[in-house]
Amino acid sequence: MTAFVAGAIAPARSAAANRLENFCASADFDKPTLVLDIDRVEDQYRALKAGLGHADIHYAVKANPHRDVLERLVHLGSHFDCASRGEIEMCLALGARPETISYGNTIKRARDIAFAASVGVTLFAADAEEELVKIAENAPGSQVYIRLIVEASQADWPLSRKFGCDADMALALLDRAVELGLEPLGFSFHVGSQTRRAEFWIPALDAFAGVWHEAEARGHNLSLLNIGGGFPAFYGEDIEGPTRYASNVMSLVTERFGHVDRVMAEPGRGMVAEAGMIVAEVVLTSRKSDRDMHRWVYLSIGRFSGLAETEGEAIRYQFVTPHDGEAVGPCIVAGPSCDSADVLYEKRPMNLPLALKSGDKVLIRNTGAYTSTYSSVCFNGFPPLDVVAI
Ligand SMILES: Cc1ncc(COP(=O)(O)O)c(C=O)c1O
Repeated sequence: MTAFVAGAIAPARSAAANRLENFCASADFDKPTLVLDIDRVEDQYRALKAGLGHADIHYAVKANPHRDVLERLVHLGSHFDCASRGEIEMCLALGARPETISYGNTIKRARDIAFAASVGVTLFAADAEEELVKIAENAPGSQVYIRLIVEASQADWPLSRKFGCDADMALALLDRAVELGLEPLGFSFHVGSQTRRAEFWIPALDAFAGVWHEAEARGHNLSLLNIGGGFPAFYGEDIEGPTRYASNVMSLVTERFGHVDRVMAEPGRGMVAEAGMIVAEVVLTSRKSDRDMHRWVYLSIGRFSGLAETEGEAIRYQFVTPHDGEAVGPCIVAGPSCDSADVLYEKRPMNLPLALKSGDKVLIRNTGAYTSTYSSVCFNGFPPLDVVAI
């Protein structure tokens, strides 16, 4: 088997990234733990805001609803995109004003819509007639936007056809909303999560603009353009910095829509991923036979305890080990549970140090988004991912 030395050139790391990594390197946790640097969330908020200009940031709470994250974002003046009653309650409890909250899930229970209305939330997403009827009955007179489906996503974590509707239906839903006494303000879409380059937004924005202009031609006076999330984090492949990326996206928006009074952007991953690092350990290394070309590296964290986005090997996290810089070889990386789906990287094995052994500490970079919220409660007796804010 060829052993070779890790040669990837790491990008220049900021002082904030080093602070987080240094903290994690010296911390001692009994179980896998996500460490969040809240100042780093603030840096990211400011960087995105600088690029987004007059657009309002509605932080997608689902990416990481940790109390300290939400509290800092409320303090900074962020608005919020909430997926459930629970997320709305968390935001309100930490001081968010209801008029800064958008209930952005297109799949809502009637009683949760009524709850949102009762606490003062007035903006709702919909992509189906039945949803509009529920909103009209439980939050009469509310403002709504219609979510459009995006077919051609180049995202690493696409959001599929589960959300949104096609152009004809979206136009019909605007009319239906008016009939139901609602106030249809405009449209939303999501380009797909982890869309690494701003130019990948072009096909979605082109399609979106077509529907927008058609709606205006039919007499709708639209005032709200919700461009969703998709803002990327660094997982090893080149991405533009947050300000540059956001301002490039906004230039593409302005080219197609001119000035729209109210633009909403809903970054989740791009806000918090790089503010987090998971501290875990190696539980076992092995080979399945003496001829096995690959080593298996079993970690204390897996698909069910925080690394759900390794599904389809879509998100490839970066590992930091005590043996970095030494000889590496191809490893299949798996989690600790007794479930055969709990394999993180097998089709494209990871090159990890050959000296790695059980008990070694493993840091997993840029894991502040979609980890703690995805971790199961006690699957196989493993506790959910612990979270510590610094
Ligand atoms: C409606 C909505 N907005 C925003 C987001 C955040 O997306 P991202 O994390 O890619 O920024 C999501 C993610 O699922 C979403 O469903």
